[in-house]
This record gives sequence, structure tokens and C-alpha cells, in this order.
Amino acid sequence: MTAAPTRDETRFQELIDRDEKIEPTDWMPDGYRKTLIRQIAQHAHSEVIGMQPEGNWITRAPTLRRKAILMAKVQDEAGHGLYLYSAAETLGVSRHELVDLLHQGKHKYSSIFNYPTLTWADVGAIGWLVDGAAITNQVMLTRCSYGPYARAMVRICKEESFHQRQGYEILLALCRGTEEQKAMAQDAVNRWWWPALMMFGPPDTDSTHTEQSMAWKIKRVSNDDLRQQFVDMTVPQAEYLGLTLPDPDLRWNEERGHYDFGQIDWDEFWDVVKGNGPMNRERLEHKVRAWEENAWVREAALAYEAKQRQRKVAV
Ligand code: 3HC
Repeated sequence: MTAAPTRDETRFQELIDRDEKIEPTDWMPDGYRKTLIRQIAQHAHSEVIGMQPEGNWITRAPTLRRKAILMAKVQDEAGHGLYLYSAAETLGVSRHELVDLLHQGKHKYSSIFNYPTLTWADVGAIGWLVDGAAITNQVMLTRCSYGPYARAMVRICKEESFHQRQGYEILLALCRGTEEQKAMAQDAVNRWWWPALMMFGPPDTDSTHTEQSMAWKIKRVSNDDLRQQFVDMTVPQAEYLGLTLPDPDLRWNEERGHYDFGQIDWDEFWDVVKGNGPMNRERLEHKVRAWEENAWVREAALAYEAKQRQRKVAV
């Protein structure tokens, strides 16, 4: 016979049922705290690692304007990461612990960032497809039951919209350019389309966390339904660009009111998640090297802060 719910459990469930936010000082089940730390930390790691693929093109952007836009976008991603580490820290962990877990390979980041950026068109495809998929997911997360995470999403989504627009504009310029430029855009979309669909996670039937995360209103829409939302939004945009999405089974299904699309290669997905993607090793090596080489910045900031504190005490 299950024990009657405690007062804390009853209040937590009432807040969830009333669609009210759970705040850091509210009681919460350990499992709720644990899965939020897991998801928010991996989200933060994804933002920071995600700076690498596009950062690779800052010095090779075709114009000063494109360079300035790309620098602004990559800097935004860093800010999103720091914002999300702050949200995770409201749950009682430190960002250094989380970064350590990433560096030790014990924390994941989004599979999408383990693919190489081979041409300038990849910067457009990432902005349009990867940030587009991220927005689809993050708009849903603005309704997450955990207050700090939901509020972080509101601010991040505003910046993501600029990220997606600049990517789409890059592809529009290429598609209206020479035959070679259009071919470069098509090649990039061929390589980024399926990995972008994988960003939403495994099929609902294979998802470890979806059922409980939906019950706790952390997740408000399932992986498959969000993926479908993204496909339905993106196909008309590809048609406007004059690009063909690399899926022969993609077609509008009047009865369903959605696009049908082909089978995702889940072996590839799990292979990349397990660390065997094209760039997994380079991404993590680069991240650890940057962390170690820039330790002096953290030390200088902490020394300055300690000095300031001493001064305040002395006054
Ligand atoms: N890449 C790597 N791992 C993934 C993954 C992906 N695309 N999708 C799922 N996984 C992992 C999960 O983390 C989980 O592993 P874990 O138990 O070790 O954490 C396992 O696969 C099973 O997946 P579930 O569906 O059960 O996991 P979730 O319920 O956590 O759902 C998610 C996965 C939809 C990605 C969810 O975690 C989420 O919404 N995360 C927040 C959004 C996010 O992290 N986006 C990543 C991209 S950020 C970005 O693109 C920034 C932009 O500015 C470019």
C-alpha cells in the first residue's frame, strides 16, 4: 500500500496541476531536481560547444557584414550557455561541477554539434535549421514548470530568432547567386537536414525521460510532436529558397494535416550520441584545451573579486 503523500508532495503537485512555476526555494522531488540539472546542464553544454562549428568560419566570412553578424551570433551562444549554467546553479550544483562532467565525457551535449562545417553555406544551414529546431524546442520550454529555466528560455528565444533569420538570409543570398553558390547551399542542406531532425531526441517510444518529464510539465510537447512541428514549419521555407530537402518520402498528407517524412537513421543518432560522430573527439579536445589555456582569465577575475571584497571589509 503506497504511503499518503506528504504535505510537500501535495503542494508540489498542486503547483504543477495549476500550471504554476516551481521556484528554487520550493520543495521538489529529488527526481525532478535531478532531471532538470541533467537537461539544463546538457542544454548549457550544447550552447558552448555549439560555438565551435560556426566559430570556424568567423575569420573566413565573405564580407565584413557577415563577419560581424556571425561574431554576434557566436557571442550570443556563449551568453546562452552562461545563462543556462546560472539556471542550473539554482538547483544546488556549481557550473564547475557541470563543466567537469562534460570534460570527463559524463555529460552529453547536442549531437548536432558533432558534424563538420565544410563550407560557408553550412553557417546558413546551421542558422536556419539548427537554430530553427532549437527555437521550436525552446519556445515549448518557455512553458516549463521550473521557473528559472522557463524565464531563461524567454530571453534566449528572442536572440535565437535573429540567429535563424541571419542563417536563412545567408542561404537566400546563395540561392539567388551563381549556380555554384546555389549548389553549395543545396549540399549544406543535404548534410544538415537529418541531423537537425535528430536534435529533438529519440522517438517517443525510445525516450527515457519523456513520460516523467511530461508529467512534471518540464516537457510540454513530446520529441516526435516537436519534430513534426519543425518539419511542417521548415518545408515551405525550403520551397521558397528553391532547395530540395534530402527526403524522397517527404510529402504533404492532407488527411493528417502534416508532412509525412522518411525514416531517421537512429543508428547514426545513437552512434553520434555515444561519441562516434565525425567531430566528437575534436569538439571535446578543443573545449578542454580552451578551458585550460584560459584558466588565467578565471583566476584574474576571482583575484579581482577577492580584492574588491577586501576593500569593502576594510572600509
Ligand atoms: N543529442 C545528444 N543527446 C541526446 C539528444 C541529442 N540530440 N537527444 C536526446 N539525447 C539523450 C538525452 O540527453 C538522454 O540521455 P541522458 O539520460 O543521458 O541525458 C537520452 O538521449 C534519451 O533521450 P530523452 O528523449 O529521454 O531525453 P530528454 O527527455 O532529455 O529529451 C531533449 C531530449 C529534447 C534534447 C531535451 O533534453 C531538451 O529539450 N533539452 C533542452 C534543449 C537542448 O538541449 N537543445 C540542444 C541544442 S541547444 C542549441 O541548439 C543552441 C542553439 O543556439 C544553436
